[in-house]
Amino acid sequence: MSTEGTLRPVTTLRLAEMKQRGEKITMLTGYDFSMAKILDSAGIDVILVGDSAANVMAGHETTVPMTLDNMIYHGRSVTRAAKRALVVVDLPFGSYQGNSKEALCSAVRIMKETEADAVKLEGGKEILESVDRILSAGIPVMGHLGLTPQSIHKFGTYGVRAKEEQEAEKLMADARLLENAGCFGIVLEKVPAELAAKVSDELTIPVIGIGAGGGVDGQVLVVHDMLGINTDFSPRFLRRYANIGEVMTDAFRRYIDDVKSGGFPNEQEQY
Ligand code: KIV
Repeated sequence: MSTEGTLRPVTTLRLAEMKQRGEKITMLTGYDFSMAKILDSAGIDVILVGDSAANVMAGHETTVPMTLDNMIYHGRSVTRAAKRALVVVDLPFGSYQGNSKEALCSAVRIMKETEADAVKLEGGKEILESVDRILSAGIPVMGHLGLTPQSIHKFGTYGVRAKEEQEAEKLMADARLLENAGCFGIVLEKVPAELAAKVSDELTIPVIGIGAGGGVDGQVLVVHDMLGINTDFSPRFLRRYANIGEVMTDAFRRYIDDVKSGGFPNEQEQY
């Protein structure tokens, strides 16, 4: 079977090659089979089964309530659809912090039960032991620095991170630690563009930004936000590519009118 062309599966190695030749990496979140099928056939490089599913799929205020079982359910739904894209699944809050053996068990469950390609963890030095242990089992790991939503109760705000020198230095040091540990990439969320570009320049692994400017190696957005399905969230970094929420509302209203008026189903739409 040919592995060339657009159907050639994206691997962590291919992402590294993309960075080397300056080709930007595209990543969007996905949580279910139907959306993942559309994302994959559109040619997205990476589908992130993010724990933002807590917000956009389940309506929670934060990502903290997400469980490992929830992530496995979403991850499995996405991998059934993804033929080309690399699928990365978030390890949820409480499944890896503070206990590297538990972290490994969580990552192993994700890999076995979802058949995803990699896991993503939030944090730097504090979670390095967990990162090391997961990597030592042969599981590819993506880091996540800057605004790390699982720590929202520590930060107290979803504002821009690492604006001050001390936090910027820690972020750079954490990025180096994650690269040296063997992570294949890092997500940088909501940090100044200049700092993000510096991290991307210094690291050899791809840096994917969300609210981190254009000087990084790729971009990620939450799919419901960029499609205009979730309109409650409008940060400056978000570009809306569609107003699908409006298209859906219009379709639902026309359906309701048709059913109420007896216009649906018509003669051709019945047996
Ligand atoms: O959970 C998520 O969607 C994420 C992205 C915001 C990077 O981690």
